[in-house]
Amino acid sequence: MCNSNFDLNKVEAEAMALLEKMTAEERFDLVASGDPDMPGASNTIMAIKRLGIPEINLADATGGISVNFRTAFGNTKEPTAFPCPMLLAATWNTELSRAYARAVGEECRACGIHFLLGPGINIYRSSANGRNFEYMGEDPYLTASMASSYVESMQSTGVAACAKHFICNNEEYKRRGCNVIVDERTLHEIYLPGFKAAVDAGVLGIMTAYNQLNGEWCGQSYYVVTELLKEELGFKWLCMTDWTATWDGEKVAKSGTDLEKPFGQALKKSKEKLLGTPYIDRMAFNILKTCIAAGFYKKDFKKPELYELFEEHERIAKKVNDEGIVLLKNDGILPLSISESDCRILVSGNCARRLELSGGGSAQVKGYNLVTYLDSFIEEFGEETVVYAENPTDEQIRSADCIFLFCGFAQDYRDKFYEGESRARPFDLPDDDLITRCTMLNPATVVCVVAGGGVRMDWAGKAAAIIQAFYGGQTGPKSMVDIITGRVNPSGKLPFTIECKFEDSPAYGYDKIEPNWDTPHYDIPEIKRDTFFCKEEDGSCYTYDLEYKEGVFVGYRWYESKQIKTRFPFGHGLSYTSFAYENLIIKKENDMVYVSFCVKNVGHREGAEIAQVYVQDVESSVPRPIKELKGFVKLMLQPGESKKVEIKLDRSAFSYWDPAVKAWTLEPGEFVIHVGASSSDIRLKGNIYFL
Ligand code: BGC
Repeated sequence: MCNSNFDLNKVEAEAMALLEKMTAEERFDLVASGDPDMPGASNTIMAIKRLGIPEINLADATGGISVNFRTAFGNTKEPTAFPCPMLLAATWNTELSRAYARAVGEECRACGIHFLLGPGINIYRSSANGRNFEYMGEDPYLTASMASSYVESMQSTGVAACAKHFICNNEEYKRRGCNVIVDERTLHEIYLPGFKAAVDAGVLGIMTAYNQLNGEWCGQSYYVVTELLKEELGFKWLCMTDWTATWDGEKVAKSGTDLEKPFGQALKKSKEKLLGTPYIDRMAFNILKTCIAAGFYKKDFKKPELYELFEEHERIAKKVNDEGIVLLKNDGILPLSISESDCRILVSGNCARRLELSGGGSAQVKGYNLVTYLDSFIEEFGEETVVYAENPTDEQIRSADCIFLFCGFAQDYRDKFYEGESRARPFDLPDDDLITRCTMLNPATVVCVVAGGGVRMDWAGKAAAIIQAFYGGQTGPKSMVDIITGRVNPSGKLPFTIECKFEDSPAYGYDKIEPNWDTPHYDIPEIKRDTFFCKEEDGSCYTYDLEYKEGVFVGYRWYESKQIKTRFPFGHGLSYTSFAYENLIIKKENDMVYVSFCVKNVGHREGAEIAQVYVQDVESSVPRPIKELKGFVKLMLQPGESKKVEIKLDRSAFSYWDPAVKAWTLEPGEFVIHVGASSSDIRLKGNIYFL
């Protein structure tokens, strides 16, 4: 972590000494930091000049540094637009997660940003969540693995990470009015592991969520902040609220939260009651302690010389795209080989000419050296070969040698097909009709989906190839061309399941994402604020219950147990080569299980395979998923090359959370170990017994 050599006692003594010098007013101002009239102040922790305490800068977020940072800090150079975190997760490469986070951390240092308000690590529970692209998929183990390497690496640059949004912020629909009801077992097995991994990796910041958990807003909930985060997960650094996510100042102070963003609006309403209390002292102390441990009060924090590294960062961003873009289907059309000079490639789709490849909201990153998919196609194949048409005619479609459609969602909040913060997003792509027409009229149609999650693909059977492009930032189009031409062999795999229809998903029927749902509404007259809650036309405000009735059966856990056929399963992704799995050996020594097997490249080109290990409890006293991911490895293999892999599984891989004893519990009996290329492409199986 940042400044990891610190001595906690010394840090706490220093923080206490500083606190003692502060007046009650100064302590209050610190924890309610931010002057609404000062531009950019919402993203800072205020300075106390009298005591030499500098201003601390915070910036979004997980796809690089967000567009807002320039207005806030007056920097002149654009930060790199990295691929979105979901694309990073699709690489299943923890070393790349490190490289990515280090690069973002270095950019923060270059710009003088102390806290990066990421990574976002909420679980993909529903494809309707507008912010899925900011997170790392549906599986807690994959999320935890990527998040922990991200946090460690970012903090090694001296920048603090702030994992968000704690907790169960899995829906953006009227997010402040959403009361998530979740049982304890599900909370522990599905929603907490990512945060636990971040805490164990030493994360210095946690941001709480907008939604309520079991009846109280996360940012002002004693259960969420003190009991779950601080006591159970052992987090001891700075816990901040999300931006205007809280309204009761006394509850905020008593919950264990340390900083209310953006302006301490609720705390300020209760200032008379709170000023000079031990609650405010504790909050201020935690802020000081975190900043001292991170080394933020040292004068040389900003390092403009790191701007020199931006070119290297762009290369890392490209590598993430190369390894994360997922080839979902390929009838053999890819890699594309164009030999005849009179070949015509038709390019279309609403994202073909889009420059900024990120989702909407606070994660939006502008970048530099921007190119569109169309630009990179023209650069690669020439203007003679590439024909662009916004609304191609049937004749243009029929006569093309092949068609590439780049279709996705909008960044503009007002657009019905927006994917981003604070809105649900539709399952259907806006260009669905165009795709259907092209796939019907021309069998050589390749569809590239520019989205953070799954979409309806009723045309999938007719498409020659389908690629999940996600949001690739500034290097996405270059990687796309490298993958299409075969210069790069695709190796990304889906961090989520794509359902055939939204009605198949666990969220359907439990969540009502349409405006007129039929759930109880609770009127809260004392806090009528247009933007805070759901608001009826008559002006009343209310919350709505969102019960996670599917329990632990999220993602592939759901589809497998319900035997629902999916469009593409979790962990799926194709390559231009193929891999064989062999020689499974499972050994158990005491409570450690060693799973070893070989993966061989049996095709003709170099390529990388992501081998996945799932565990199944054959008989259990509680309903358990058919299988759960507990290990994975990404291997680069030359044609004919074989590598042996060993994956260690400890007791936790076989356990479930038992609320009765509030602990992970391993029931004796038989377990099956599944090894495969995706959750539904299992190549090897073996058994193990716990007595
Ligand atoms: C988002 C956070 C973000 C914050 C500051 C909020 O609306 O939910 O993820 O960090 O704004 O921009």
